Amino acid sequence: NEIYLQGLADQVPPFTTDPTRLAESAREILPPGPFWYVEGGAGSGATVRANREAFDKWRIVPRMLRDATHRDTATTVVGTQMAAPVMLAPVGVQSIVHPDAELATARAAAALNVPMILSTASSNTIEDVAKANGDGTRWFQLYWPNDLDLCASILHRAGDAGFTTLVVTLDTWTLAWRSRDLDQAYLPFIRGTGTAIPFSDPVFRSGLAKPPEEDLASAVLKWVSLFTGTDRGWDALPFLREHWDGPILLKGILHPDDARRAVDAGMDGIVVSNHGGRQVDGAIAALDALPGIAAAVGDRLDVLFDSGVRTGADVLKALALGAKAILLGRPYVWGLAHGGEDGIRHAVRGVLADFDLTLALSGHRSLAEITVDSLVRA
Ligand code: FNR
Repeated sequence: NEIYLQGLADQVPPFTTDPTRLAESAREILPPGPFWYVEGGAGSGATVRANREAFDKWRIVPRMLRDATHRDTATTVVGTQMAAPVMLAPVGVQSIVHPDAELATARAAAALNVPMILSTASSNTIEDVAKANGDGTRWFQLYWPNDLDLCASILHRAGDAGFTTLVVTLDTWTLAWRSRDLDQAYLPFIRGTGTAIPFSDPVFRSGLAKPPEEDLASAVLKWVSLFTGTDRGWDALPFLREHWDGPILLKGILHPDDARRAVDAGMDGIVVSNHGGRQVDGAIAALDALPGIAAAVGDRLDVLFDSGVRTGADVLKALALGAKAILLGRPYVWGLAHGGEDGIRHAVRGVLADFDLTLALSGHRSLAEITVDSLVRA
């Protein structure tokens, strides 16, 4: 209605309402380095493509005369109440695409009443993001450093700043072969960085000869040495429990056995994800992994999903195949690139409205009514 009324005043939306064309539109406003940092995937991009193709293998079967005039999209995931089953995925170094970076994301998330997940590789500090997010719902994503003092310090800072839930990303203990970034020698990444976390962390800074602002090369090398390569296994998880009071989820699960191990390890949830196709080129599409994983864990923990979600129909399909909620990645980053906080609001409201309309027109009144019977194989 808002858009129709704006039309009467000769106004059109600030950028496309088709989330599958957001990248195209962002390409017109961003230099190639930042654009490809976001859009690119691992290797040949096979898994980025597979993530999208997987959604196309399923079709929604609308049902009629079910009175879906009033819909309830609310849900609760690992104890967090959400107005809709949509969250903002952790995305690092957002200063690459917009100077307001994670602060804009935090403000937009709070205004939209959508939970955000802050990345360890954020351009803004944990505390500043918390302040920008105010009364919003925020989770924290951990890249698990080799230095356990640093790890504990980051976790305690996040807990103190009101991040309620921990998401431990397991699939990025080193960066994949990302030729788009390698072609640019990672320059936009390094230039765009404040990477305030962990650069701002007292434990991290205490080990440096000079502060990161004065010797970025040493800081980056230290960052790399701390956050890549680890021989950690499932038996390391209790350390996180010791230093984190709230629920813990594991992100990057693609095999049913790993999902079962997460149950055995007492985790509260998992995120079925291939990191948006940015880690293992040729990896299984995340949506193709979802039904088997959902069947393996049942309701013993909450299953979240990301990688390739763009439209309201995609959200419905992921829920039908076993996810309780989804994480949006690139779509909101393109919103940020287009217009900071307002851009994110426009992009994410579009997905939420599209999901609500899809729910209505396919005859679903609540999330509980979305089941595997809502879909057929194309
Ligand atoms: C990511 N992702 C990510 N994940 C994470 O756990 N920590 C991080 O710092 C980042 N950084 C990051 C940067 C950029 C530019 C992108 C696009 C992605 C992965 C992210 O959380 C999520 O898994 C994917 O983005 C989901 O796929 P879509 O929605 O982008 O297709």
